Parts: sequence; C-alpha cells; structure tokens
Amino acid sequence: MILVTGGAGFIGSNFVLDWLSQSDEAIINIDKLTYAGNLENLKSLKDNPLHIFVKGDIGDANLISELLNNYSVRAILNFAAESHVDRSIHGPADFIQTNVIGTFNLLECARKYWGLLGEKDKKSFRFLHVSTDEVFGSLAPQEPAFTESHPYEPNSPYSATKAASDHLVRAWLHTYGMPVLTTNCSNNYGPFHFPEKLIPLVIHNALKGDPLPIYGDGQQIRDWLYVTDHCSAIRCVLEKGVVGETYNIGGCNEKANLQVVHTICELLDAKKPKSDGSSYKNQITFVTDRPGHDKRYAMDASKIERELGWRPLQTFETGMTKTVDWYLNNPQWTENVTSGAYKDWLAKQYV
Ligand code: NAD
Ligand code: TYD
Repeated sequence: MILVTGGAGFIGSNFVLDWLSQSDEAIINIDKLTYAGNLENLKSLKDNPLHIFVKGDIGDANLISELLNNYSVRAILNFAAESHVDRSIHGPADFIQTNVIGTFNLLECARKYWGLLGEKDKKSFRFLHVSTDEVFGSLAPQEPAFTESHPYEPNSPYSATKAASDHLVRAWLHTYGMPVLTTNCSNNYGPFHFPEKLIPLVIHNALKGDPLPIYGDGQQIRDWLYVTDHCSAIRCVLEKGVVGETYNIGGCNEKANLQVVHTICELLDAKKPKSDGSSYKNQITFVTDRPGHDKRYAMDASKIERELGWRPLQTFETGMTKTVDWYLNNPQWTENVTSGAYKDWLAKQYV
C-alpha cells in the first residue's frame, strides 16, 4: 500500500479519490486536519476499506514509523504542507514547522524504514515529494518557462520553505541513496479548493455579492492546471519516473489574474445570471498588492511529456467550466468550510 500525507487537503483529497477510482491498492492517509484539511472531501470513501485515515502530524516520528512498519508501505507521497502564500506572509512559523521540519522528519522515518527492507523492496520503494513552481521565483514577461534546471529563487516564506524541503529530498538521495522523486507543479484549480485561493475565493465572493479582490493591477501571470491532471501526472511519475529526477508539471495555460477572474464572471453570468441583469464583473475591486508578489510563473513540462508520456486532459476552458459547475452544485461544501475561523482570515487579509 501507499502512504499519502495531507490527503484531506485540496490536491491530496483529489489524489486519493482519483487513485481509488482506478486502483485496488490501499492508501493510508495521514493528515493533521488544519483549517485546510477537510474530511468531507473524502466522505464518498466512508465505507471503502482501501482508505485508512489517520489524523496526525508529519512531524510525529513515532506515528510515521509505526504506520510505515505496520502497513508495509511501498511508497510515500508527501502532499502535506502549509500552502497559502498570503498566510505565510502573516505568519511564517507554521510553514517552517510543517514544510521544512515536517518533511525532514518524514525523510528520516522513511530512511530508517527503507534501510531495513529486503533488497527487492528497497529497490522498488519510492519517496515522492510534491512541490511547486514557486521555488523557481518570478519570470520576466519574455523569459522562457521554468525547466527542471532553472535556479531556485524563492521569494515568499511559502516558496522558501518548499524550496528548503526540495533540497532536503535531494540530499537524502545523494547522501543516503534514498529512492526519491520530486514533482514541481504550477497552480492547480478544481473541486475542494479552499476559498482562500484566487479561483474559489472569486467564485464564492461573486455568488455572495461581495467584492472580487484583485491584488495590484491584476496582470500577474500563473500557469493553471486542472487538479485531476496533476493527480495523473503524480501517478505517472510514481510509476515510471527515474529515481532522483525532478519533473515539472504544468498546463501550458498562462493567464493574467484579471483574465482568470473575467472568465469566472462570464461563466457565472451564463450559468447563474444576477437578478438585476448586471455582470459579476461589476464586483471586481482592485486592492493593495501582495508584498513581494511574483509577477509570472510558467512551466516547461516537456520533460514529463517526452520521457513519461504524460499530457493534461483538460484545457483551461473545460477545466474552468467543470470548476464553476462544481461550486454551483456544492454550495454546502463552501458553506461548511467558510464558517468560523475563515471569517477571521478574511478580516485580517482584506481589511
Ligand atoms: P492544502 O493547503 O489544500 O492542503 C494541505 C493539507 O496538508 C491539509 O489537508 C492539511 O490539513 C495538511 N497538513 C498541513 N500540515 C500538516 C502536517 N504537519 N501534518 C499532516 N498534515 C498536514 O494544499 P494543496 O493545495 O492541496 O497542496 C498540496 C501540496 O501540493 C503542497 O505540498 C503544495 O505545496 C503543493 N502544490 C500545490 C499547488 C496548488 O496550486 N495548490 C501547486 C503546486 C504544488
Ligand atoms: P493564489 O491562488 O493565492 O496562488 P499563488 O499565490 O500560490 O499563485 O493566487 C493566485 C494569484 O492571484 C496570485 O498572483 C495572487 C492573486 N490573488 C489576487 O489577486 N487576489 C486574491 O484575493 C488572491 C487570494 C490572490
């Protein structure tokens, strides 16, 4: 079986659902259930014996070692992280704790476990670390997209901690020979995306009649990938990736933030028109820019396409349509995750 960390979060829960929809290999899912983790994402697996959920911290060495030994794990997939740039600006400590110390702990537990495996299992064991394009820093408008050999130039506390974790993973390969793989992916979107990030926040605010906050001039560019395409890329790297290699994953969908918000508004105008006939675009509000805001990310995903044969299935248009439909059809999910502490976050971030 495989051990997934952070499998109650946005990408982790999509991965668990996606995996169990096409494999009969069981998953142990360990998640601390921070504000970003939500067991409701996994409720369709309630009676599925192939999904074992454990509430816990990747920094807990005893727990991790116990799980690895008790379940004879053949691979660890590390999704667990503090993941929101704006939160990392307000309070970086949790990011150091989980993204750096937590990953270090996971690597050490994995190393001890792996070291005692028999030759065959030792060879086939994998530690797959899920990381981000943000470790590469920011691109100027005409610069080529990030390749795997682009220098690391992280600019936010979030990306600096992810960069640190990538370096630790690399060191565990070179120093101890651990069979690791690292994936660096661009911005994801889709179902179960917590409404602190741009796309779900804009959908949520639009439907409530609240302002749609655009940082600065809204011309920052991100390369958007529908979440299940990220899941298929991770499965592909786990299965076929060459030990020690890193793989960039991206959708080849570079869009300025304002363009993304316009797309959401147009989809909502068509699918859920406002009673007064006005467009959701009228709710767009320009707000103070994020400190140290990276201007542009873009991924060159040609290595994973060429060497492993992975390709995304969704275009930006099909992915955005699916996403808006999902939020329109699941208002209760958003309602549940935005009660309580979420309101404190909005008050802090969007004064
Ligand atoms: P998320 O914030 O939605 O989910 C993170 C999950 O990790 C949550 O369920 C949370 O409870 C759990 N968690 C946090 N700290 C933990 C700890 N100490 N121990 C165990 N569990 C813990 O994040 P996401 O968007 O799903 O991102 C998942 C991974 O993918 C992260 O490593 C992130 O850096 C990476 N990534 C995200 C994106 C993106 O666009 N969201 C893009 C590329 C890479
Ligand atoms: P986000 O979803 O936080 O992802 P990341 O910062 O990891 O790329 O933000 C995506 C882009 O949208 C980023 O350029 C910041 C911008 N943004 C806004 O303009 N307004 C907002 O309210 C948020 C949350 C993000």
